[in-house]
This record gives sequence, structure tokens and C-alpha cells, in this order.
Amino acid sequence: MKKPIADSIAVAVKQQITGEEILLLLEKPKSLELGDVAFPCFTLAKVWKQSPQSIAADIASQLNHDSIQRVQAVGGYVNIFLDQQKVTQQVLRKILRDKQQYGTTPTKMGTVVLDFSSPNIAKPFSMGHLRSTVIGNALANIAEKNGYQAIRINHLGDWGTQFGKLIVAYQLWGDKQAISASPIEELLKIYVKFHEEAEQDPTLNEQARAAFKALEDGNEEAQALWQWFRDVSFIEFQTIYELLGIHFDAFIGEAFYNDKMPSVVTELKEKGLLVESEGAYVVEMEEMPPCLITKTDGATLYATRDLAAALYRQQHYQPQKMFYVVGNEQSLHFKQLFQVIEKMGYPWAKNLQHVPFGMMLKDGKKMSTRKGKVVLLADVLAEAIATAKRNIEEKNPHLPNKERVAQQVGVGAVIFNDLKYHRLNDIEFSIEQMMNFEGETGPYVQYTYARICSILDKANAPTQDMTFTPLGEQAWPIILLLEQFPKAVVMAFEQTDPSQIAKYALQLARLLNKYYAQHKILADDEQQASRLALCRCVAIVLKESLALLGIESPENM
Ligand code: ARG
Repeated sequence: MKKPIADSIAVAVKQQITGEEILLLLEKPKSLELGDVAFPCFTLAKVWKQSPQSIAADIASQLNHDSIQRVQAVGGYVNIFLDQQKVTQQVLRKILRDKQQYGTTPTKMGTVVLDFSSPNIAKPFSMGHLRSTVIGNALANIAEKNGYQAIRINHLGDWGTQFGKLIVAYQLWGDKQAISASPIEELLKIYVKFHEEAEQDPTLNEQARAAFKALEDGNEEAQALWQWFRDVSFIEFQTIYELLGIHFDAFIGEAFYNDKMPSVVTELKEKGLLVESEGAYVVEMEEMPPCLITKTDGATLYATRDLAAALYRQQHYQPQKMFYVVGNEQSLHFKQLFQVIEKMGYPWAKNLQHVPFGMMLKDGKKMSTRKGKVVLLADVLAEAIATAKRNIEEKNPHLPNKERVAQQVGVGAVIFNDLKYHRLNDIEFSIEQMMNFEGETGPYVQYTYARICSILDKANAPTQDMTFTPLGEQAWPIILLLEQFPKAVVMAFEQTDPSQIAKYALQLARLLNKYYAQHKILADDEQQASRLALCRCVAIVLKESLALLGIESPENM
């Protein structure tokens, strides 16, 4: 809606500045009493050496557009009041017509590859990996809404020196039966023990390195153990993905690239990028430490496998964008990776993007697996679901499908808690807070949706060909916000920031609840159809916002 207004302003100033440029200058006035859109004339005033007041007055006297009702020049601003009748009608009709497709880009934009979740085999799925999983999945949904095909790749950590450690630990202290009964828990125990013992006995690390080398070289016993660790871990991860309702297009872990490594190393050598450094091979970097490609014993590293993976993905998908949703502690790794690819002469290096995020904190401290101080995602989800279940028993004991709804609410709470702040923020982890029905939570938004559903249930559905009238001061901001949804979808993608959708949903829910508290929706008067249409449109957009975040919307809870 702002674009046509910007264009009319451009006409009013005889195209001395373009509509595009004006669009960037448009603001939202501090209060709706000052108008719905404001154009500040201060920048123009400087360039044109005129007073902002006279420019504003000049524009105000000439501006006219279909959806503008009136214009005022005040203190160097052009304040624009939209025609509430026209805009209400347009917005409600459009959403009722497009439904879940409202805000979807219909053109095919190409492919986006998203590398996310990627937990490490034989280690628990920690809260840290939850962040990548939830942010990555939301970004994939948002990419799809923006017209892209999203390829969700799980780059499982199923290769690397930690498997050397695990093999040694198993050979020293492993209990086959215990591990079969409760795989990840037991594997974690011996892994933690390895680190404790290695502090006293550094030869353990030597042994681990040798064990990993054996694994890379195809030693049978090492391979069999590795396969077993991988299989049992995978089953546990799958249960979590099912609970979260997340699927991947490919589970291609680091091990997959083992046989693709020699050609990458050869290519680096041929391009003159590989430098020997004390028996190891590195690529020199500008303005950062060199990127280690092979160790002295010839073993490859995390970075080498990522290099092979990037080349492989480029070849297979030829994506417009490749996102790596990984914690910000790996920033250097990705800077190095991207620079190596650039040095190899690949122009698509510019399509690679690290999408970092902050830490999950518990009582202000980082959660870490190494020292055994770990909060398991599986436990957290179970607790959230149990809390939701208690809530239902208390408030809505006759609800059908209690188990299912409790799951939708519990899981929704965990996901929303993660996505409501900008991803770079560290987030504190608190079940009570994320479950609060009155707070800035997933359950609050879900509850708003369910409440609207129950009202709509009691009346005839509004249709897109009806005439809708403005619903007054408290409904108007809702209309304006609904109109902004497509823009929010675009911004969330451009800035790889799902929190914009979460914040949008919170604000929409808040405005609707405020309206609802003061207006009877089902009062049999001439505005009932418009109120119902408003509610229906809010429901559509709330549900779609939650869906983008990866959260379900129960109709009754
Ligand atoms: N498995 C790694 C970890 O847990 C994350 C992998 C991220 N993806 C990648 N392509 N490096 O730290």
C-alpha cells in the first residue's frame, strides 16, 4: 500500500526524487491521530535548500490517490490519512480470497539449500542443536513462502576425531548391553569419562587419533562400531524430529564425504592453494588464521568435509543461496570455508551465508555436553507437554484429543520461546516462562487463535464478495497490521530473521484480544459481518504465521 503512495508523492514533486527513494523515507507516525503514513521532508529540504515546511505544504496540496482520504502538512511532515473504508474492504477481501496463500510469492524463485540441526552422533541432542533445528526449519518455511524451493539438509556430525575417542572409550569401558538398552545416555557417559581420564593421561588422545585414522582408512572393527553408534543415535534423533514435526530432504552426514576428500585436496593442490606447514596442509587466509585441510597423519578435518559438502551441494542443487544455520561460535570456521571456496575461483562463493545464533543459557551459563552438564531436549519437550496437559485438565477437561493438543501446545511453546527474540541473542531457558498463557508465548498466540475459532464456529462464514465497513479506532490498527503481513514475510527472509514473524504474530494477537475485550463480535447488527471477517482474517494470518515458525494451531485448547 505504501508503494502507490510513494509514487503519488513522486508525481507531486515532479519526479525530482523517485518513488523507490520516497518509499525508503516513509514512516509510521508516532500515533494514529497524526495519520497512517508520514513523509518527512527534512532530507529533501537539505538537498533542495528549501524549508521542510514549505515542501510539506506543497506536497500536501497536490497529493491525491484513491486510498488516501486526507493529507496534512505539520512541522515538515506530510501526514497521510488513509481511506479506512477502501483499505478495510481491500485488505479483508484479499485475505478471505487468498486464505493461507496470503503473502505467498507465486513466482518460482529458485532453490535455497539450508544446512541445519546437524547433531553429533553418539551425543545427546542438546538444547544447542534445538536452536539450529527450530531456526533452520522456520527459515526453510519462510523461504518457501517467498517462492523458493527449500532443500533441508541434516549435515549429521557422524565423522571426526570424536569417533576415535568414542571407539577407544568403548574398548576400555564400554558395556554392550547397557548401550543397547539406552544408547545415547551410555555413550555420553563413556565420552565424558574419556575427557576426564585424558586430562590425567594424554596418551589417550594419541590412541583416539589413531583410532579415527583407522576408521578413515576403513578398518573393519572401527567401521562396525561406528555404524552401530550411528544407527542407535539416528533412531533417537528421529523420535525428536517427529515430535517437532520436522522433516529433512537429506540426512547426509560428514562421513558421506569421506571418499570425496582426495579430489578436493587434489583440486586445492592444483590451484596452488595448499601450503605445507609442519607436515600438515593448510590454505593461507587473508586477515585470519590459515584453514587446516589435512593433519600431519593425513586425516581430514571438519573444514575439509564442509568444503567437499559445499562443492557437492552446488553441483547437485545449483542453489540461489546456501544457508548454514550454526551457532556463532563457529563464525571463524565459516569465514574460512567461504574464503577457501572464493580462492578456488568459484563465483557461487557469494551465495554462501552463515546464519549464526546465540547460546541457550541455563541459569546464565552455557549448556555443554563435555562436562556432562546437559539439558536433554527430549526431557524438555516431555516436561513442556506434561505442563500443557495439566493445563488442559484444569481448564478444559472435556477437550477431545487431549494428548494431541497437549503436544501441539508444549512443542509450540518450546519453539516459540526460541524464535521470539532475534537469533543472535542468547536466550535463557525457562519452562514456566515459555508456557505462560498470558505472556509473550506460543500458547498465548495459539490460545488467541483457538478463541477466534470458537467464535467463528457460532456464525456463518463471511465471504469475499461482501461489503465490509470500517470498525472503528481499535480495529483500524488490526487492518493496517494485516496489510503488513506480506512485507513481514519478505523482510524475515531477506534478513534471515524468523523473529520478525514471531513478533508480528504476538502483536496481531495482542491487538485482537484488546479489540475482543471491548467489542461483542456476535451482536446481531449491521457490522457483524465485518467483525466476523476481521476475526476470520486474523485467524488465517495467525495460523499461517505460526505455521511459518513450525508451530501448529489447534482449534480448541
Ligand atoms: N555437527 C556440528 C556441531 O554440532 C554442526 C554442523 C553444522 N553444519 C556444517 N555444515 N558445518 O557443531
